[in-house]
Formats: sequence, structure tokens, C-alpha cells
Amino acid sequence: MENSERALDEAAQLLVESRHVVALVGAGLSAESGVPTFRGPGGLWTKLGEPSMNGYQEFLGDPVRWWRDQQDQQADPDRTEFREAIERAEPNPGHYALAALERMGILKMTITQNVDDLHARAGQEMLAEIHGNRTKLRCISCESRWPRDHFEGQDYPIYCPECRGLVKSDTVMFGEPIPRGMLDLCFSQTEMCDCMIVCGTSATVYPAASFPQTVRERGGAFIEANPNPTPLSPIANVVLRGQNGQVLPALVERVKVLKG
Ligand code: OAD
Repeated sequence: MENSERALDEAAQLLVESRHVVALVGAGLSAESGVPTFRGPGGLWTKLGEPSMNGYQEFLGDPVRWWRDQQDQQADPDRTEFREAIERAEPNPGHYALAALERMGILKMTITQNVDDLHARAGQEMLAEIHGNRTKLRCISCESRWPRDHFEGQDYPIYCPECRGLVKSDTVMFGEPIPRGMLDLCFSQTEMCDCMIVCGTSATVYPAASFPQTVRERGGAFIEANPNPTPLSPIANVVLRGQNGQVLPALVERVKVLKG
């Protein structure tokens, strides 16, 4: 279904009628901030190929070497281009729209697969960063998190000052379990959710892709905001076709009208 005034009205109505709205977000939300998506035309992995599926095992096997490889990758012009794009990126109107919904008390939690920190920079506070945050480091044992430069100048590997566990970038690698505390937060939010707005994700990576299905199975609603169809489109209650940077602000305007 093409995006229409009616679809926007229906989505706004669902948002104001719901008790516990949760957003599930993917790379498409940041596309208009200049951060490439992973899949599809122009996607990072479409261009460079998928990263090693054993990334986490490689890190555990030789963390010092893994950190050195990270440095080498930064010299790779293609990856440098991506890193620079993400470092230059600013929140776009789609991020600010989610922040507005949070301030209005409508959006209770955002489960984001994005690691770019743009939600927080747009003013969102209720965040479950299921794939981590590239501006942070994390202990793989106790799951403490610190800003990226917290241990600057220390030799690798870095050990947690609290529990002596290994410290790595907070970004979840292939083969790495999602931190338990984060996973529990995502599952409990999904259980509570009676309306999920799914923004800019191809809905192909689990467990995130299962959350909208769970909401539907439990009798809740879900709204898909994505310019392209996804495997979840057929079970969406409302589909908003178009770029998040246009569709989400339009949705906020309608919600404001309904809230009076
Ligand atoms: P994908 O790259 O798989 O999908 C991006 C989605 O964004 C697609 O469905 C596009 O149609 C949509 N899109 C493109 N431009 C858009 C726009 N302006 N507005 C809204 N949507 C737009 O990205 P994800 O679904 O986030 O995990 O990928 C999920 C995970 O795959 C990532 O978090 C990453 C990867 O494995 C890790 O790195 C752990």
C-alpha cells in the first residue's frame, strides 16, 4: 500500500489509543543522516561483503590481535568511508520525531539495532541498544559500559576494573551473544507492548525481527514505516511507505492533533 493520508491517520490513532508503544528501529532510520544501510542498494555489505561470522570467536581467541586488526581495517579506504560517514552523521527529522513521541509520553521504549548513537543525540532517553553503541565499550562478563575513550592509553587487552572480564567495543559482533541484561529488557518491553512501530529495518536479523511477530501474536498492533516491503509487511496493521525522515514527522503532527 502506498503511503497515504489515511494510513497516517490510522497509525496516529493506534499510537494515541495504545498503552505501551515501543519502537523497533533499523539502519533505514539513519539512512537520511548519510549512514549507509547494510543490505540493499548502496548497503555496506552489498558493497564490502558480510563481515566474518566468527568475529566474536576471533576476538576471544586473541583479543590483542583483534584490536590490531581493527586498526588495520581503519586504514581500509572503504571502511574508512563508512566510519567517516557515521562520525559525521547528525540526527535527522526521523530521529527527532521519535524523540518528540517519547517526550509526549506516547513512546515508552525504543529498541534500536543501530549503533550510531543518533537516538541519544536527538534527545531520546528510553533506549534498548540491542546491537550496542559504537561510542561505548562493554565488559563481556558483567556488561558494564563506558565511553569509548575511557581506557585510552591502556595496553590491549583491556580488563574490566570491576570483575576483570574482557572489555570490547559495545557493538555486538557476529557470533556474539546479545548481552543478557539487554536481551531481557527487549523481551520484557515486547511483552508489555500493545503497539510496535517498526522503522527502517529489513526485519531479517533475529531476535529483533521476532518482536513485531510476538506483539501481533499477543493481540497487539504493529505499524511498519519503511519505503520498501519487508518479510513482516503482510502482518502489519498499517504500512507507512516513504522515508522515515518524512513519514515520522508527519505522524507526529497527526498525533499532536489527536492529543489536542
Ligand atoms: P538493513 O540494511 O538490513 O535494512 C535497512 C532497511 O532500511 C531496509 O528495509 C530499507 O528498505 C530501509 N530503508 C532504506 N532507506 C530508508 C529510509 N530513508 N527510511 C526508512 N527506511 C529506509 O538494516 P537493519 O534491518 O538495521 O547488526 O539490519 C539489522 C542488523 O543487520 C543490523 O543491526 C546489523 C546487521 O546484522 C549487527 O551489526 C549486529
